[in-house]
Amino acid sequence: MQIDPKDGDKTVNYRIMRNLVIPRPIVLVSTVNESGLVNVAPFSFFGVVSAHPPVIGISIGSRQGLDKDTMANARRTRELVINVTTEAMKKGMMISAMDFPAVESEIEPSGFSTLDSTVVRPPRIAESPAQMECRVTEIMEFGRNGQKRNFVIAEVVMFHVNDTYLRDDGLPDHLQFNILGRLGDDYYWGRKGSFEMKRIKYENWLKTHKCV
Ligand SMILES: Cc1cc2nc3c(=O)[nH]c(=O)nc-3n(C[C@H](O)[C@H](O)[C@H](O)COP(=O)(O)O)c2cc1C
Repeated sequence: MQIDPKDGDKTVNYRIMRNLVIPRPIVLVSTVNESGLVNVAPFSFFGVVSAHPPVIGISIGSRQGLDKDTMANARRTRELVINVTTEAMKKGMMISAMDFPAVESEIEPSGFSTLDSTVVRPPRIAESPAQMECRVTEIMEFGRNGQKRNFVIAEVVMFHVNDTYLRDDGLPDHLQFNILGRLGDDYYWGRKGSFEMKRIKYENWLKTHKCV
């Protein structure tokens, strides 16, 4: 069977890409708005663009045609932090993926704590074994039919690796991270193989939790 992307409706190409490009790393991206409110959200359309200089890229979709909070913050402040995400962080990661209003930080509800960055304003997530402070260098626009998407290219200006995860040769001990990966549909990848986790809807969350 072959599928011409031009025939796909608004979501079919997204679903095909999501189920074909696997496993993908999940990163938590922290940003701040102009008043310093911290935003954190997971992204798996993420990759290495260059190693020297170290450059990463994140593909950020839109919500009802508008920038997600991460995108709006990155556009305005040109700064972000990439936090490596482990299986132990999966619950908080799912909470931070909900559509919180821009005026509400995901940090407290998701149970994460922060560490100051050294070069950029957005903080690092303390539970993450390694973080990369980044400056946005370029934003490329893609998408049509209301499926606006931006590819954010950012240069790493500082690497941080928790000492517990540093090998004797000074490199990150990736095998000890117990990394969380993204597969297709609602599936994830961890140390014991694949497992399913459903997204939580913000409206449902509000029924049992307090909002601002
Ligand atoms: C595992 C996972 C990976 C995700 N990857 C992406 C992604 O690569 N791009 C994207 O636009 N949204 C992605 N999302 C959805 C965003 O995290 C979600 O829209 C979030 O509410 C955005 O938050 P913000 O408005 O605070 O930026 C992902 C969600 C999950 C659970």
